[in-house]
Amino acid sequence: MVLSSDLAAWKKLQAHYEAAKHYQLTDLFAKDPERFSTFSRELHLDFKPPHSPTNTNPHETNFLLDFSKNLIVPETMSLLLDLAREAKVEEWREKMFAGEPINFTEHRSVLHVALRNLTDTPMYSEGHNVTPDVHAVLQHMRETSDAIRSGEWRGYTGERITDVVNIGIGGSDLGPVMVTQALAKYANPEKLRVHFVSNVDGTHLAETLRSCQQASTLFIIASKTFTTQETITNAQSARAWFLDEAKDESHIAKHFVALSTNTAKVTEFGISPENMFQFWDWVGGRYSLWSAIGLSIAIYVGFDQFESLLAGAHAMDRHFRSTPLEENLPVLLALVGVWYNDFWGAQTQALLPYDQYLSRFAAYFQQGDMESNGKFVTRDAKEVNYQTGPIIWGEPGTNGQHAFYQLIHQGTKMIPADFIATTHSLNPISNNVHHDILLSNFFAQPEALMRGKSAEQVYSELKSDPTSAKWSDAEVQNILPHKVFKGNRPTNSLLIDPVLHPFALGSLIALYEHKIFVQGIIWNINSFDQWGVELGKQLAKKILPELQTSSQDTAESLAAVNSHDTSTNGLINYYRQAKVR
Ligand code: F6P
Repeated sequence: MVLSSDLAAWKKLQAHYEAAKHYQLTDLFAKDPERFSTFSRELHLDFKPPHSPTNTNPHETNFLLDFSKNLIVPETMSLLLDLAREAKVEEWREKMFAGEPINFTEHRSVLHVALRNLTDTPMYSEGHNVTPDVHAVLQHMRETSDAIRSGEWRGYTGERITDVVNIGIGGSDLGPVMVTQALAKYANPEKLRVHFVSNVDGTHLAETLRSCQQASTLFIIASKTFTTQETITNAQSARAWFLDEAKDESHIAKHFVALSTNTAKVTEFGISPENMFQFWDWVGGRYSLWSAIGLSIAIYVGFDQFESLLAGAHAMDRHFRSTPLEENLPVLLALVGVWYNDFWGAQTQALLPYDQYLSRFAAYFQQGDMESNGKFVTRDAKEVNYQTGPIIWGEPGTNGQHAFYQLIHQGTKMIPADFIATTHSLNPISNNVHHDILLSNFFAQPEALMRGKSAEQVYSELKSDPTSAKWSDAEVQNILPHKVFKGNRPTNSLLIDPVLHPFALGSLIALYEHKIFVQGIIWNINSFDQWGVELGKQLAKKILPELQTSSQDTAESLAAVNSHDTSTNGLINYYRQAKVR
């Protein structure tokens, strides 16, 4: 396969779109009383970690995916499923689980699924059974997180650790940030806080350290490569801050640990190998929260909870690997997304969790999705003539409703949106009134987006409203169009039952990971590299020395930089002048 648009099913979908573009969701519902049952799926997942009899957390969850409020009919889904089969989704899925080097531009397998394989079943990366390696690191994480949480691990003055600062960026930050927020209910921040420093802007580290003391702070330096400029710069400044107080380099061992694949660089930094948590090049950065990169999660909520998160993801892996495509939740989400992205011209995909715990969910999947599928050449190095990855964005409801929903309801763009909620709240305060209000909005918004409001409805509302009843017909006609909602805007609704416990969260994240995988296969792109972030990095390296000035420099004596285009030169020279002024 070269271009997915050459596939027979793609061509049929293009033809089918010519009819589909006239669909009205309200008509589709009116014509088919069975529509909800045709286009919704319930999924029960359970999986108990076999080697942890003392882990008594819940290890089951239910999902209800309603995709009936989409501009689809059975023929649409059947063509989309044909497309998935023609694009060989099932074969590629097997290649991933079998550890074949499907990330061919980096000669790597893509085996984050092995990180949550808590069974003894071997999983192979290019012929090597990685399961024992994975379990050994998990055991190391368990021992360390237990020691820190129990107070057995002490700092250089004998104090217990109260603050853990994870220094990392991208995949070495976003997952732990999102998950520690999502599982905050399971943490005890009075005893142990976690902080995340990612930005190379010194403000991020400085503001974080304002509430930390050297004697009771543990730094986790999280970097797959251990060469990322932002992380290493922050790590060095953290080290200097620590030594400023602790004075003695031998104390570093009690206050710095590393999560990396690069033993040489970790040692060079001054962290001993016993304080290094290994992972492997077959773990992509944006899929690494399940690996040693999850150490901050395990410390914050406890290893059992972290293990339950892995178990939930593993249960979703099993579902994804073995369920026929038409019943397969990640596949269904992926196909509906492809339908809008490639046939309706939608540019974005909104992720709208009605759950405050998921406040960083969209931010997390901005990397997960856009770094994976923001590609313009196929695996066979041909430029695509169709859209690949959508722009991912979103904020938790109901906040988003008071910010950007206006545009989703009445703007000029089609914005397919996923609504996500749980059936129960982890904080059923005030007689659970909050959750009922939250969920009433969760149900109302997709309904409103689908139904809209016609001119006739607006007219009769205006006429029956005492304020506007006295308006002239001309006034009514002038105001009326502003109050019309065209509706027909597509959404998915995903209900998680009962709550967002670690197992459910693990399943949810894996659901979206596999959705991204399926879409990448359908677009015939390599979802696993990220060359797109390199060019800017290279140019920044070139510019950094050009920014240097010395204390002797004055605005008059400073030589102008002229090695770039006039715009970049102008900006750099303005900055250099400001530095010496
Ligand atoms: O942004 C590019 C990237 O390579 C991501 O893929 C990765 O998650 C991030 O940088 C951090 O890389 P590292 O863990 O090697 O510091």
